[in-house]
Order: sequence, then C-alpha cells, then structure tokens
Amino acid sequence: MNKQTQPKGFVQAASNIGVTEGYMPGFGNDFETEALPGALPVGRNSPQRVEYGLYAEQLSGSPFTAPHATLERSWMYRIRPSVKHVSRFKKVDMSYWKTAPHVIDDVISLGQYRWDPVPFNDEKLTFVTGMRTMTTAGDVGTQVGMASHVYLANTDMEDDYFYSADSELLVVPQDGRLKIFTEFGIIDLEPLEICVLPRGMVFKVTLPDGQARGFVCENYGAKFTLPHRGPIGANCLANPRDFKTPVAAFEEKETPCRVTVKWCGQFHTCEIGHSPLDVVAWHGNYAPYKYDLRTYATIGSISFDHPDPSIFTVLTAPTAEEGTANIDFVIFPERWLANENTFRPPWYHKNIMSELMGNVYGVYDAKPKGFIPGGISLHNCMLPHGPDNNAFEHATKESWDPVKLTNTMSFMFETRFPQQLTRFAADEAPLQDDYVDCWDGLEKKFDGTPGLKD
Ligand SMILES: [Fe+2]
Repeated sequence: MNKQTQPKGFVQAASNIGVTEGYMPGFGNDFETEALPGALPVGRNSPQRVEYGLYAEQLSGSPFTAPHATLERSWMYRIRPSVKHVSRFKKVDMSYWKTAPHVIDDVISLGQYRWDPVPFNDEKLTFVTGMRTMTTAGDVGTQVGMASHVYLANTDMEDDYFYSADSELLVVPQDGRLKIFTEFGIIDLEPLEICVLPRGMVFKVTLPDGQARGFVCENYGAKFTLPHRGPIGANCLANPRDFKTPVAAFEEKETPCRVTVKWCGQFHTCEIGHSPLDVVAWHGNYAPYKYDLRTYATIGSISFDHPDPSIFTVLTAPTAEEGTANIDFVIFPERWLANENTFRPPWYHKNIMSELMGNVYGVYDAKPKGFIPGGISLHNCMLPHGPDNNAFEHATKESWDPVKLTNTMSFMFETRFPQQLTRFAADEAPLQDDYVDCWDGLEKKFDGTPGLKD
C-alpha cells in the first residue's frame, strides 16, 4: 500500500492472518478484520459496550428471512453510527445518470449500435458526477433490471461520499486506475480488474493517474454471484480464491463532508461534519470485492464447434426463474482456439437476452476493426448480429491449427430485459452511423450447386 496516496488520517489493518497486500481471498466468505487491535468483539455481535467506544451496526444485504444460502449481512464497529452520516437531504441534479424505466419516445433502441470511446472533456467530473448512462433496462422500483454506464473522471472525491440504495455497482476500468475508499476498506483497481460495490455501502473514489474512464453495470436486482458450473465441476472459470475483499480501514476526519445518495433514480445530498468512512472493524459476508480478469481460467472446445458463450460468465445476477439472469457479466479473454473444421468466431445469432459489449483492451475476434478499446456495442433482444465480413472471410479460410487469441479483453453486460438507449447514447456519445454496414460485404454464395464455396 502506498501510504503517500492515502488521505491523512486513514488507518488500515496492518496484519491480519492470511492477508496479503490488504485483501482477504474468497468469494462470499464470512470475513473478519480490524484496523485496531481488539476492536472486533469476540463471540458476539452487539456487546453492551464496544472497545474504543465504537458503535455496533448491521448492514443487511438480504432480507432478514432470506434462505440461509442467500443471507448477506455485515456487522460494523464504527466511530459514529450511520445515522450521524446523513442529515436533511437536498435533491441534486445528476442529469446524465439515468434509471429504468427510462423510455424516450423519439429514441429508437431497436437496431445494432456501436460507439467509439466516449472522449474525455475539460469539465471537472468525479467518478459519480462523471457517470454517463448508455442504456437502462427493467424497473428500479421493482428491483429488476440494470443500467450500463460509462464513467469519465478527472477529479478526486476528497470530501464527497456516495452510496446507491438502488443498486450494486460492477466497475470495469478501461483507462486509468481507481482508488476506492469504502466503509469496508480500500480497493486499488486498474484496467483488467473489476470490482463490485454493494448496495448501501458508502464510498469515494480518487484517481491515481489523474483521470479515468471505464464502464459500470448497475444492478437493480439480486446480487451478483458465481454461476452454476454444471458438468464443468468445481474448478476453472472464475475461481473463488481469486476474489479479494479489503481489510478494514477507517478515515478519522472532522471536516465538512457531503454524502450523496441515489434512491429510486433520484439523487439527494446532505452535509455532515466528518468522514462517514469510520468503520474500524467489521465481520460478515456483505462487502465489496475485486477480481483480476487475468485469473479467469477459460475453457472451450478441444474438438469441434463452440460451447455457448455462457462458458465465459464471471458473475451472474439471478432472477427467480432458474437460468434466466437479470445480468450475466461475461468476458472474452486471451485463449487458445483449437476446434477443428469449425467456424471459430462467435456464430451469427439472435438472442432473447440483450447484449451490451465493451472493449477494455486489444482486438475482438468477431470485429477486427471498428470496435476499439473504450468502444461499446449494443445488440438488443432478438436483433441479429455476428462477425463482420472481414472476420467471416478470414475465419472460413484459416488453417485448423491451434491459434492463440492474444491482445484481447472484451466484456458483455447481458440482461434478460430489452435495453433502452438514453438521450446521451443516441445523440451525444460518438455513435458509429455506419456500424450496420459492417455486414454489407457478406455475399450470397449459394448458386444451387453442391460444394464448398469461396
Ligand atoms: Fe451475441
């Protein structure tokens, strides 16, 4: 941990058993961590008095009566209880951060869309005020659906703090590192890593590189979890040990601060006289985590044909309908292709799920040109898509030798709900008007005679 980049007064746990570099490994574990020795009560959650004069408080991520396997909560031991971290709210405008349902009459969401990277500008924007919604889906009021955002940030959140009561946030950096100070500890995040910030958890973000751009999937529904593995078995894909949850850290700061809350699609702010990131110790299984996409153990065909792209699922946010996700977070990492007599790129298809893709790094095999790092594409519910002409011509003539796809990392936010474009996506973001033409070169090869055609 680079002490120089931490705000004055931040105290982080120095030595927790089994902890390296400020993180605890595992997915959904029941963690415990303390930034000061003896701060964490032993053998009980809510003793009559807590060491150091701390207050005990529970943060519930699931209803009290949820089935045992889905119960999520953490106990926090903090300098002040959270009731001291809010005051009278004042509504604020956050005009680029949109929430479903958000359907605009004269915006056509039906179509194949692709955007160049949203460029940085000179406006002072934080991770929160720089959020630009591209699509929304579902309904935040009934806690189903999602939104996809691009963030453009060039300003640290020093005395500004934020939490979303609407959603958990899956953050996918593309350009520039983030330092995320949360109630549960500090997450350092860089491109090719992701993190998940739980609903209701207070945080702020600073920018070690001065500016940052990336993507956010805002999940209104059930929390992200690991996908069912079926016959794959207990190993590969995203292995649980590669998820990292931060050790406890707290900020003791008695200066004017602002807390902004996203609630039912609206934003409200309040003034307080201290930092809300004052959790000295905590235990539980409701906490933020990060994951390095380079640790994903990709599987694929070693004979012929393709498995479905669900083999690339890192995290899934389920619905009550088994196997039908509110959101699947899917990646397309570096990997070997060894399938013989097979059209190797993704096949042409239509999908009941709606697919928003982003390119983090390198070249995507189905679209060698035009889908560049920072770029975004949208293939909505039942809209046909697939490789462009360049990719088709190459893939139908290449040798069957094993080949490694390198220099590539794209991802997909895939949802069961149709995705609606925002005004920003339709009119302000750098939409590629000619994207739909990428299939123009695909020719009719059929002439009624048998045989393989060039
Ligand atoms: Fe697709």
